[in-house]
Amino acid sequence: MARTYIEDLSAHAGQEATIRGWVYNKRSSGKIRFIVMRDGTGLCQGVIVKGTATDDVFTRFDTLTQESSFAMTGLVRKEERAPGGYEMDVTGIQIIQIAQEYPITPKEHGVEFLMDRRHLWLRSSRQHAILRIRHQIVKAIRDFFDDRGFVLMDAPIFTPAACEGTSTLFGTDYFDLGKAFLTQSGQLYGEAGAMAFGKVYVFGPTFRAEKSKTRRHLTEFWMVEPEVAFNDLNDNMDLAEEFLEHIVQSVLKNRLPELQHLGRNVKFLENVKRPLPRITYDEAVEILRKNNIPFEWGNDLGGTDETVVSEQFDRPVMVHRYPAVVKAFYMKRDPERPDLALAVDVLAPEGYGEIIGGSQREDDLDLLLARLKEQSLPQEAFEWYLDLRRFGSVPHSGFGLGVERTVGWICGLDHVRETIPFPRMIYRLTP
Ligand code: 4AD
Ligand code: MG
Repeated sequence: MARTYIEDLSAHAGQEATIRGWVYNKRSSGKIRFIVMRDGTGLCQGVIVKGTATDDVFTRFDTLTQESSFAMTGLVRKEERAPGGYEMDVTGIQIIQIAQEYPITPKEHGVEFLMDRRHLWLRSSRQHAILRIRHQIVKAIRDFFDDRGFVLMDAPIFTPAACEGTSTLFGTDYFDLGKAFLTQSGQLYGEAGAMAFGKVYVFGPTFRAEKSKTRRHLTEFWMVEPEVAFNDLNDNMDLAEEFLEHIVQSVLKNRLPELQHLGRNVKFLENVKRPLPRITYDEAVEILRKNNIPFEWGNDLGGTDETVVSEQFDRPVMVHRYPAVVKAFYMKRDPERPDLALAVDVLAPEGYGEIIGGSQREDDLDLLLARLKEQSLPQEAFEWYLDLRRFGSVPHSGFGLGVERTVGWICGLDHVRETIPFPRMIYRLTP
């Protein structure tokens, strides 16, 4: 049986075609029947008119329920007013399955109801728009690094130790070897890769036992982490701004209808062009105080602080040189101000908060050993990592971009739960 995808209908105007798909919705008006079909590539309206279609086609049409599956044949016509721009005059219906009463109807449902039915909710046009944008973002990420000679470095998910603080580790029993931990970041392996290949990127799922129930925390999320030998903090910021510009411009170029479907105001996205503003942590603290936020120097920026800082700019802002005490053990100290880490966070506009975290890495063996001690991290577990400082250590830098927060910001969503097909959060492990 021939099959035409809805997205290819323009090549079949004036011809007979068969669409295989599901009932999105349907209605009758006197002697005419309308059906909106979906096949995953788009929506197409089918029209059934007495005279063109047989009585048998009418009978079959009337048995179709929402989400029933079928093959539908008819003449394809250009129709400006129809969603997708084409309509089908249906002359044949082959029913594949009559669906049971479908739980998700055009009426409003609560978010928990929809989350419990996430496996079905994925069929709705809003979820299509979000997940197609996610796909575009992932493609833009891969293209960016592949086109610049970075080598893809897959990092393990079972790891022997913490990378980003011990409070958010998921542990599991690992045969006779004791405990294994789900990776919080592939960075340490990315550093080994950078010393082997010069420039690499790690791209995969990461895990954090986040006890916070916020609109930007998942317990399982995807992170992309470039790591480059001989890059200092400034080179790292150059890379981050070029990268963000590439991702956002690629979504604007390829997924504008999806952004419009979500009602996204693209003004802020169009602004995402180099150079991005760069401010120090000290300057961020000044901004907070000017805005009457009683912020104590030395603390990490919280969600509200990030919002206030980012509101001063019309595009993402890079905040660099944080107090070392709030940052990870592997970050290099600023030689001018050893109480500062050569860190950078990129804050998205419109209150979306941190989407990138990165730094220049400590490349001196003795200093790194001291940092491990300070943070009570077990040296044995890091011996392989310390080898990178024993054998040809060089300055190097990298960062991690959280895919879901980036999707949430670009789509203009108020929660990360819709940015990944099956979200994992403190209170959600199903479906
Ligand atoms: O700032 P983070 O913790 O940085 C690292 O893990 C570094 N090792 C990265 C590197 O330098 N290679 O996390 C990086 C990004 C954050 O900016 C955020 O976008 C995302 O990962 N992220 C989360 N996204 C969703 N849910 C969570 N619980 C997240 N935690 C971090
Ligand atoms: Mg961070």
